[in-house]
Amino acid sequence: MAEMGVEIAGIAFRNPIIAAASPLTGTARGIAKAIDSGVGGVVTHTISLLPAPEPPNPVGIRGGLLHLPTWSSRTLDEWVDGILPEARAHADRAGVPLIVSVGFTAGELEEVVPRVAKFADAIEIATNFLRPTVDPMVDAAAVVDEVISRHGNPIVKDPSALKEAILAAKRAFNGPVMVKLPPLGTEIEALARASQEAGADAIVATHSFGPVMTIDIEKAKPSFPGKDGHAWIGGTAMRAFALRNVFDIARSVSVPVVGAGGVTSAQDAVEFLMSGASAVQVATEAETKGARIYGSIVKKLSKWLDSHGYGSVREAVGVGVRNWARMQPHTYTVPVQYNPDECIGCGLCELSCHYNAIWMEGKLAVLDSDLCFGCGLCAVRCPTDALIMPPVWKE
Ligand SMILES: Cc1cc2nc3c(=O)[nH]c(=O)nc-3n(C[C@H](O)[C@H](O)[C@H](O)COP(=O)(O)O)c2cc1C
Ligand code: SF4
Ligand code: SF4
Repeated sequence: MAEMGVEIAGIAFRNPIIAAASPLTGTARGIAKAIDSGVGGVVTHTISLLPAPEPPNPVGIRGGLLHLPTWSSRTLDEWVDGILPEARAHADRAGVPLIVSVGFTAGELEEVVPRVAKFADAIEIATNFLRPTVDPMVDAAAVVDEVISRHGNPIVKDPSALKEAILAAKRAFNGPVMVKLPPLGTEIEALARASQEAGADAIVATHSFGPVMTIDIEKAKPSFPGKDGHAWIGGTAMRAFALRNVFDIARSVSVPVVGAGGVTSAQDAVEFLMSGASAVQVATEAETKGARIYGSIVKKLSKWLDSHGYGSVREAVGVGVRNWARMQPHTYTVPVQYNPDECIGCGLCELSCHYNAIWMEGKLAVLDSDLCFGCGLCAVRCPTDALIMPPVWKE
């Protein structure tokens, strides 16, 4: 059986599936349920100096969960006096690392981190509410309003607030400090490097994606009752974007990367591992289907690795990045390669080919290689490996 354990910044996890910061990990009961389901580690809902104003309930849509990217509505005292001691005891019994998520500015972290430190195996800094212009220690609701209206995280243009937050957490905590970055364009590489320079021991990518907007067509209104009709989304809809962030970060820094964004299955987790993540976090899938989903992904991941010949999770980490380095960019083997022995006669290739290069004769596809333009659509749709378009390797 594939070895499932992973090590991140010196902490051993029994498997690479980690419960992400979300309302589910905002209570001792939720954290216990995650641990009992078999998760490899838990990140608490983000704790800050002031409790978050109660946000509207998340709204489920096709492809994810719309929500506001806020933090825990429990007070720091509630966390320190009740939730964290209970969660710590449960984590110790199971031997599962407890990562305490904290936010946001250096000033807040200086007060929050010393109080939560004794319960934490690692600290994770949430960065989606860094650098507000209103004072976060005075008016949490004003901070939420500002961040939601401003569209874009100011740490992208000026990472000094991010660095200060990391340094503050490092001063207050004698253990690994992880930084969770927002999903970004190519700026993500510079931000990841800035995090590493400031002393981050691991990078988590990413927070949920936003702002977005979808319409509930039956009710003819935006699906989420947010300010401006906007919301943030976690789940399948953001996975390709989060994967690209992980892939780019993994090539830019030497500290470990933890992926998050649209992990709903073992296969999704493998995609993140192959993109360079040492572990993955799951929020939306567990929020919508319950904590047992963590354990289900762990079991299926183990089976997937076994059935694909991987002796350990570590063997899968970064394999996609390494293979990318061997690929000739923007080139494929043209014409498409066709193996009639694998054809099951479904006819999907004929429907996809706009060049009339492949058609059905009875229950068998027939390819005219001279007409093939190499668009690859038939290979995408073919349910077997009858049609393939391998990349061109550099060697
Ligand atoms: C309802 C909800 C609340 C969340 N709250 C937090 C939070 O307090 N702190 C944080 O760092 N991330 C928070 N997240 C973001 C998730 O941890 C995760 O990064 C993101 O949703 C992408 O992962 P997913 O597709 O598995 O949901 C929240 C996500 C959801 C859906
Ligand atoms: S899509 Fe694949 S399996 Fe289906 S007819 Fe074409 S070659 Fe055969
Ligand atoms: S690769 Fe494109 S052009 Fe070639 S046979 Fe397939 S669909 Fe037609």
